Amino acid sequence: MELDKAIKTRRTIRSFSRAANREEIRGIIEAALYAPSAMNSQPWEFVVIERQEKKAKIRGLYDKARNLLGIYRQDSEFIEKGTIVIIVSPKEVKNARISCAFALQNMLLKATELKLSGVILGVLNSEKIERELAEIIKLPSNKKISFVAVFGKPNKRPTEKEIKSLERIIHFDVF
Ligand SMILES: Cc1cc2nc3c(=O)[nH]c(=O)nc-3n(C[C@H](O)[C@H](O)[C@H](O)COP(=O)(O)O)c2cc1C
Repeated sequence: MELDKAIKTRRTIRSFSRAANREEIRGIIEAALYAPSAMNSQPWEFVVIERQEKKAKIRGLYDKARNLLGIYRQDSEFIEKGTIVIIVSPKEVKNARISCAFALQNMLLKATELKLSGVILGVLNSEKIERELAEIIKLPSNKKISFVAVFGKPNKRPTEKEIKSLERIIHFDVF
């Protein structure tokens, strides 16, 4: 798939017919490894959650996090239907989460090429919830969670995405 097509067709689709399989997940993670990182630290390791009971626990945490944040209720079944990937980093590396965000974007684009969708579970990024998630995956104390995303085969088409016009947001030389 052309890069331009992957960039323009990537969407967050929260409904899966199946989970991403191991081969697909390996391809997605391999794409992450080429991302830029601060001081070329490459501060990423990946925990792939395939076991159903762990997926259910993480879905429970996700629902709890949304509840704590007081945001609208969402059907979170896609979390149990997909394959969850947790990006973890060494605690002592500076700017690790920013570097991991670039890695995650590579992963989302690679998933698009494989006709999959990746959903970022950003609401899990709070201190309390990350602590509980760290327990579920038995994360060593010198590592922290950077991002969580779930990958699967979408079973619906996205609605047309409205984007801002280039003319409105681009400024040359001065704002
Ligand atoms: C930092 C970040 C955190 C996000 N967290 C969540 C989340 O917790 N749950 C969710 O359903 N989508 C989450 N998303 C996905 C966004 O809702 C989605 O990217 C946005 O609505 C634009 O839609 P698109 O990805 O289809 O272009 C997150 C996206 C980003 C970049």
